[in-house]
Amino acid sequence: MSESSLLQCQKLSKTFPVKNRFFGKKLTLKAVDAVSFTLDKGECLGLVGESGCGKSTLGRMACGLLAPSQGEVRLFGKPLPLANAQSWAAGRLQMIFQDPFSSLNPRMTVAASVAEPLAARGVSRTERLQAAEEMLALVGLAGVGKRYPHEFSGGQRQRIAVARALMTRPEVIVCDEPVSALDASVQAQILNLLCDMQEQFAPAYLFISHDLNVVGFMCQRIMVMYLGRLLEDGPRDELFAHAAHPYTQALLSASQGSKEQAERALLQGDLPSPLHPPKGCVFHPRCPRAEEICLRQAPTWRTLGQNWRVRCHFAQS
Ligand SMILES: Nc1ncnc2c1ncn2[C@@H]1O[C@H](COP(=O)(O)OP(=O)(O)OP(=O)(O)O)[C@@H](O)[C@H]1O
Ligand code: SF4
Ligand SMILES: [Mg+2]
Repeated sequence: MSESSLLQCQKLSKTFPVKNRFFGKKLTLKAVDAVSFTLDKGECLGLVGESGCGKSTLGRMACGLLAPSQGEVRLFGKPLPLANAQSWAAGRLQMIFQDPFSSLNPRMTVAASVAEPLAARGVSRTERLQAAEEMLALVGLAGVGKRYPHEFSGGQRQRIAVARALMTRPEVIVCDEPVSALDASVQAQILNLLCDMQEQFAPAYLFISHDLNVVGFMCQRIMVMYLGRLLEDGPRDELFAHAAHPYTQALLSASQGSKEQAERALLQGDLPSPLHPPKGCVFHPRCPRAEEICLRQAPTWRTLGQNWRVRCHFAQS
C-alpha cells in the first residue's frame, strides 16, 4: 500500500441470484469477479467498459453502498462498513449518479436536499441551509435554494447533485456516468465543474463511464473492464498512445473513428452473457489475436510499466 493510498479494493466479487426467464431455473450471475485496485488521495481514476460489464456494481461496492460477495474494501487501511449514518466512514464517500433525480427528493427544496448529508453530523437546520446555499453558489447556482428539482434543466440538476455530494467534504466521490444523460455541450460544463471542485476540495474520484473520451478527459489513470473483470489498468497517456490489450485497442478505435469504424472494431461477435462467461480469456470470442492457449487458459496480470498492467497472453513490455 503506497503512502497516498486512500481506498483499497481487494479481490472484490459480486454475484446475483437470477432466474432463467423460460425455465425458472436458478442461476448465478457474477457481475464483478475478483477486482483489485487502489485509489490514491486526490486522484481521478477512470473505469471504462461496455454496458453491463459491472461498472456500477463495482462503484457501489467501492463506496459502501453494496456488500461484496467476496473481498474487502478498505478506507485509510480500515475495513469499510456498509453505508450507515452512524459509522466512522459516514460522509467520507459519496456517489453521483447518471440521473440526479435519484438523489434529489422532488418534494424537497434543493437547499434542503443539498443540506441533507449534514443532518447526521448534528449541524443545525439553519446552518445546514446556509451551507447548502453557499455550496450551490460555488457550483454556479446562486440564490436558487428555495426552488424544487423539476424547475431545473438536466445539467443544473447535476450541478445540484455535485453540490450535495460535496457537503460532507468527502475524500472519495464515485461518479457513475455523471454526464451520460446530458447533451454534449452541457457534458463539457459538468466535467469542467467536477475538475474545478476537485481543485478546490481535493476529493479522489472513481470516475465511471462507457465513453473513453470522457474518461480520457478527466482521468490520469484508467481501468478497462469487461464481463466483470479488469483487463488493463494504466496511465491514460500510455493507454492512449499504445494500449496493450486488444479490447482496449478496440475501445480506442471505437472512440476515435467514425460510427461505422466503431461498430466494425467492436462487433466481432456478440458480447457474451455474464451468466455464461467464456472459458480461458473472457475476451477470446471477440479477439482478433486469439490463439489456442486463449481458449483454455485465463491470462494473469503482466506488468508493462509503472502502474501499468494488462491481462493478455501476448502483451509485451
Ligand atoms: N440487482 C441485480 N440483480 C441481478 N443482476 C444484476 C443486478 N445488478 C446488476 N446486475 C447484472 O450485473 C451485470 C453488471 O451490471 P452493472 O449495472 O454493474 O453494469 P454497468 O457496467 O454499470 O452497465 P451500464 O453501463 O449499463 O450502467 C449486468 O449483467 C446486470 O444485469
Ligand atoms: S489472451 Fe488471447 S484472447 Fe485474450 S486478449 Fe490476449 S490474445 Fe486476445
Ligand atoms: Mg452502470
